[in-house]
Amino acid sequence: MKKLSPQDFIGSFAFDTRLAPYDIQGSIAHAAMLGRQRIIPATSAKAIIRGLTSILNDLDRGWKIPMDEDIHFAMEKELIRRIGKAGQMLHTGRSRNDQVMTDLNLFMKGHIVLISQEAIRLERALVGLAERYKDVVMPGFTHLQHAQPVLFAHHMLAYAWMLERDRARLKDAYKRADVLPLGSAALAGTSFPLDRRAVARILGFSAISENSIDAVASRDVVVEFIAACSILMSNLSRLAEELILWSSSEFSFIELTEEFTSGSSIMPQKRNPDVAEIVRGETGRVFGALVNILTVIKGLPLAYNRDLQEDKPPLFDAVDTVMACLSVMAPMVGSVRVNVNSMKKACQLGFLAATELADYLAERGVPFRAAHGVVKDVVRYCQVRGVRFEQLSLDELKRFHASFDRNALNILTPEKVVRAKTSYGGTSPASVRRQIRLLNRSLK
Ligand code: ARG
Repeated sequence: MKKLSPQDFIGSFAFDTRLAPYDIQGSIAHAAMLGRQRIIPATSAKAIIRGLTSILNDLDRGWKIPMDEDIHFAMEKELIRRIGKAGQMLHTGRSRNDQVMTDLNLFMKGHIVLISQEAIRLERALVGLAERYKDVVMPGFTHLQHAQPVLFAHHMLAYAWMLERDRARLKDAYKRADVLPLGSAALAGTSFPLDRRAVARILGFSAISENSIDAVASRDVVVEFIAACSILMSNLSRLAEELILWSSSEFSFIELTEEFTSGSSIMPQKRNPDVAEIVRGETGRVFGALVNILTVIKGLPLAYNRDLQEDKPPLFDAVDTVMACLSVMAPMVGSVRVNVNSMKKACQLGFLAATELADYLAERGVPFRAAHGVVKDVVRYCQVRGVRFEQLSLDELKRFHASFDRNALNILTPEKVVRAKTSYGGTSPASVRRQIRLLNRSLK
């Protein structure tokens, strides 16, 4: 293990070089504005823009910029090396403090869009799966115990709605990243007659920051973005967990295609759901990033402190992790095969229609609490005899309550129970069709 010198320790080049394209974009806008405002000669501004463009082209071709303390110093030095004196004028009216925050906002805006696009792909896969198996009924669970029958599609669409909110949260973070910090300089603003609005226009920011101290010292938007990523990951992790659980032989509700599983080094028969497990596992990284950034900020006096340099590793790691997880989840969900028979069989267990039977009595004037007690007795009676509701005779049923009649035994199939759940947002086929319509509209 190589020991770091204090100067090496201070540096951030190892992780912030990936900001290079954003840094160049910001610098080009800054230089153009400096020239137009006659803060620097127009010819120098042109030379700077040409120099930065040539660096960008070289980077695109795989050329590596020589290392320095951070990407901002490295870029300025390389510019001066290429164009000479004019390059020394670029940093007029600017500090690395407003520069780095501008880079970060550009980075976040771009990646929020990319992540949202991947989330849309996953949502489409979920809606597609729901449509493909739109009539399939499965047991719905609470406490992981059989509760009531639901449409498999309804269960899958629950995840699509979570992702709708995830995208809304990302969009919100985008709005707050869409503010230009450049022009705040180190913390106090600058005496140069900058045209901040012009820079915002060139860079595609909708607004400019109102307070120079806030602009360079705050990282709450980074927190917000990583928080949105964390919530999204918690949703992905739950979906991953269900794919894992459902593909076990105990459930065998679904099958994952070979591509998304892997074998064992010792047990020849195994196909393990590793992809879903890694998504579930990587969730911890993103939560870690959130705690990381929150801890960095807490207790920092205004304005800039070098601690803030530590915003980048958690931000980049969260972004990369979320992108990777979404990009495997979408095709994995798209390839899920449902074992319709296993789901059907599972619906026979756990007295899924018990609530329906209690509702039946309640509709005939029995107070629901009393009806609940009656059906509880029916369930216990069935359990002792090892039979299902449908196997009871009408006489047996009537012994529990006089209001039971022939129809009572006709409403208990999972399909019928599902069809009866017509409340808005419920699991009835019509409600599920409406959800698919709404989601498809939102995904357009
Ligand atoms: N590498 C630094 C960062 O990422 C750039 C800002 C340095 N500013 C300063 N005042 N030392 O935060």
